Formats: sequence, structure tokens, C-alpha cells
Amino acid sequence: MRNLLWPKLVASLAAVGTSASQIPLTEEPLRDASDPSVRTLTHASHPDHSLTIKPHSAISSSSNSNNPSLSDVCPGATSGYTGYLNSGSKHFYFAYFESRASPKDDPLVLWLNGGPGCSSMSGLFMELGPCTVNDSGDSARENPNSWTNAASVFFLDQPIGVGFSYSTNTSDVHGGTFAASEDIYAFMRLWYQAFPESRSLPFSIAGESYGGHYIPVFASHIKAMNSISPPEDQIPLESVLIGNGIFSDVKQASSYYDIPCTNVTGIGPLLDDGMCEKMAAAVPRCELLMEACHAYPDPLICGASSDFCGEELEMPYVRTGRNYYDISTPCDGYLCYPIMIAITKFLRTDAVRTAFGVDEKAPKFVECSDKVGREFQKVNDFLIDTRSYVADLLHSEVRVMIYVGTYDWICNFVGNERVFGSLEWKGLPDFRYQQENNKQTWSGGLWWESGPLRYARINGAGHMVPWDKPVEALKMFTAWLDKKALD
Ligand SMILES: *[C@@H]1O[C@H](CO)[C@@H](O)[C@H](O)[C@H]1NC(C)=O
Ligand SMILES: *[C@@H]1O[C@H](CO)[C@@H](O)[C@H](O)[C@H]1NC(C)=O
Ligand SMILES: *[C@@H]1O[C@H](CO)[C@@H](O)[C@H](O)[C@H]1NC(C)=O
Repeated sequence: MRNLLWPKLVASLAAVGTSASQIPLTEEPLRDASDPSVRTLTHASHPDHSLTIKPHSAISSSSNSNNPSLSDVCPGATSGYTGYLNSGSKHFYFAYFESRASPKDDPLVLWLNGGPGCSSMSGLFMELGPCTVNDSGDSARENPNSWTNAASVFFLDQPIGVGFSYSTNTSDVHGGTFAASEDIYAFMRLWYQAFPESRSLPFSIAGESYGGHYIPVFASHIKAMNSISPPEDQIPLESVLIGNGIFSDVKQASSYYDIPCTNVTGIGPLLDDGMCEKMAAAVPRCELLMEACHAYPDPLICGASSDFCGEELEMPYVRTGRNYYDISTPCDGYLCYPIMIAITKFLRTDAVRTAFGVDEKAPKFVECSDKVGREFQKVNDFLIDTRSYVADLLHSEVRVMIYVGTYDWICNFVGNERVFGSLEWKGLPDFRYQQENNKQTWSGGLWWESGPLRYARINGAGHMVPWDKPVEALKMFTAWLDKKALD
């Protein structure tokens, strides 16, 4: 899930009633979270961090319906842990589920949703976790296509202020792609110290949307720390997977023309010729203004760029009333999906919070924090171009998988293909050859690759690929982890 890029749009969305604060839900009282099964882990090299973990079991343990276990509220959940990474006043929430197949051998994957400011709980309860929240928001059902079928998966809420992650110090700054890098590194170090057997398993970071900002930066930080650490302290980072990502605002801007004004998706065009002519003319000017903002990141210049690009390239689509994350559906419900309201309701219930080990001090659940989103705006985080971080990963032999649902508008496949068809790394000539001349088909759509970089389209999927195409998404994920071709 990615929040809209330009401030004007964020304001206009609030006006049409998609703000989280407007979801009419009652808050239920919290229960005492004190629990004897909770363990706190520390690490001599990370004295400012600790990890609080609470085990949960796949086996339904409670016959007491007033106090359900995690697997009672989340059918299909495997054993694992929920807990917090603590750093001073900061507390990062995570839920971990071991693989349904072979937890001793299957890879370890950290999943991060985007935003910025959106919770990884939508990844868990809508996309690829062991259970999916029902439409009513009163219960969940087993997800037969969970990515836990093939890997052990962490779902982590970051930065502070997102989902169930919180700080007890209101002065803590929460904004920025770089904010959580050090904490995520510490998280993995603490994890591997407590569970040294998992060090032999390949580790990947996966996510979507603004994950195109987070993941290249976090993964590069891990590589940098590995390069100055003895082998026994290194994190076995093997790959990253990024779905419908935002890497470069300038490079991806022109795609806001292609999606609604051409038939590249197979269900276009969505806007009339007059509007599209105007948009086509606005593309070079928007790119120029964005480049000016990158070169001189003064609020006046960047404000002009975001006003112009937002009004000329994004608003015409937004005004159609279509879903920003799926051009084939109307924008219906919070963040354009009715299930987002159900997830919010589900995660605000006392029994679910308790079963998922959520701290009493953690705020009432909100899928995307407007406050965190604004803090990212304030520090010009959207301007960060993460292409060079991706190139660095490729050069250090970290495998990179880019997958994109073709019905997304906000971080669409046209923009992603412009990014990767021009990414400056040593494999570019061959990658571009594959992209232009050697696309291959698989059950989800088309794919191509060169060396450590793979790209896959998922036809008919929106921004949240595992939600729209669960079978294909799991197949793609499994093939990637197994280093096999897509078919
Ligand atoms: C909702 O979840 C329950 C399990 O808690 C399941 O039995 C039921 O079939 C689900 N309903 C729908 C509509 O999927
Ligand atoms: C809260 O955070 C601010 C800014 O990081 C820091 O200066 C201050 O000492 C912190 N207060 C407490 C009580 O930790
Ligand atoms: C768009 O493409 C689809 C699939 O190729 C095709 O069926 C449809 O007729 C096209 N629409 C227009 C307006 O050309």
C-alpha cells in the first residue's frame, strides 16, 4: 500500500472521506498483557536494543473462548512468535510464523508493507499471511496460499508510529526511509543470536510499494554491516523481492500518462482524448520540475513540482473514482478496499490484540498513519531515488526480484519497466535485451531476467498482488526462493 505522493492529493483524499480517523469503529478496552511465557533477549553488540518475544503454537490451546489463542483467531497460523524490538522509548512490533512445509530448511523472509506509514498487518491479514480477515471483520479464515507455505515469515511494523509499533517519547522522529535501518539490522542480529540454527537459512527481505524505498536501503545497510563483520556475525541476506515499488519519482512520473491514456493494461484507455493530450503535454514539464526539486530541494520549488504533477498527472485519474491500486475496480472503502475496514475492525478487538501479543501501550490500530506519512513529506523522503541502492545489491550478488501487478495505477508496471530497463548496473545491456526481445510467458503473465535480476508481470493483479492473484503470487515466490524459472 502506498499513500499518494503529492500533498495536494493527500488533502483531497481526506476530503472524500478515506481518512482513517473517519472509520466509525468503537474502541474496546485493553486487557493486561503480562504473560509468563514472554522472554527478553539481548545482545552484547547491541546494548541499546532488546527483543521481547512471546511464543504461539499452531495447536489451538484454549477451550476458553474469552481468551483465544493466536491460532484460534488466525486459523492456519503456524507456530512462531509475536513481540517487540525495543530501543529506548521505541518499540517495533513483529509477528513471526514458521514455514508450513519444513521450518528447519525453508528460507527466512522479512515482509514490509509500504505507505509510507502503512502497517505490515495488511500484508499479513489481506495478502500473504497464514489467515485472511473475513469481510465482516469479526473473524479470519485460513489462507491456503500463504507465503508461509514456502518460507518462515516475519511481518514487521516500521517506522515507529505505524501499526502496532509505537514510542513512549512523543519527541521521537518517525519519518524517513533511513530511520529504521539500524533497528532492523539489530533485530536480525538479536534474532540470529537467539536462534543460531536459522543462520544457515537464506534470508530475504520482501515487500511492496514504498518498500521500493525501504528495502533497497535496509538491504544495503545489512550488506555494509556484513562487510565489516566477522563471518559468524553476518546476516545471510540472499535476496530481496519488491512488488509494485516506487524507486524514482522522476523516472516513474510519465507512467501516470500511460496507464489511463493508453491500452497498455488491456482495459484502457480510461480518460478521453482531450484530457490525455493535456496530460501528454504535462509530462516533460512535470519531469523538469521534479528534476529541479531534486537539484534544489527548496520547499518552494518542490511545492511547485508536486502541485503541478499532482494536478496534471494524478488528479485526472483520481477524479474517475477508480481504485488507485487497481484500475479494474472502483475506489470503495478505506484505501479503496472494503477489506481494509474489516482488518481495522478485527485488529481493534481486544481478543485479537491479546492473542497477537500487542502491547497495551500500542495505539488503536490504524492501517496507514497520516502523521507518519506527513513526516516523510516533511523530510522530502519521496525524493530519495533508490535505484543506486538496487544496483549496489545486484553488484554484490544479492538477487533482486521485481514483480508488478498490471492493473495497479499508483506504482504501475510501465513505471517499473522504465526504471529497470534503464537501471545503471553492469547487467543492464543483457537485461534490456531480455526485456525487449526475450520476454517469457508463465501462468501469471510475462517475465524476464538477467543474472541476479528477475522481473515478472502479473496480469490482472493490482497493487497487492497476493490479494488479487494468490495462486500465481505463491508460485512466483516459491520459484524465486528455489532459484527456478517461472512457468
Ligand atoms: C469466516 O471465518 C470463519 C472462521 O473463523 C469461517 O468458518 C467462515 O467460513 C468465514 N466466512 C467467510 C465468509 O469466509
Ligand atoms: C525524547 O526524545 C528527544 C528527542 O530524541 C530527546 O531529546 C529526549 O531526551 C527524549 N526524552 C526522554 C524522556 O527520553
Ligand atoms: C484494449 O486491449 C484489449 C486486450 O488486448 C482489447 O480486447 C480491447 O479491445 C482494447 N481496447 C481498445 C479500446 O482498443
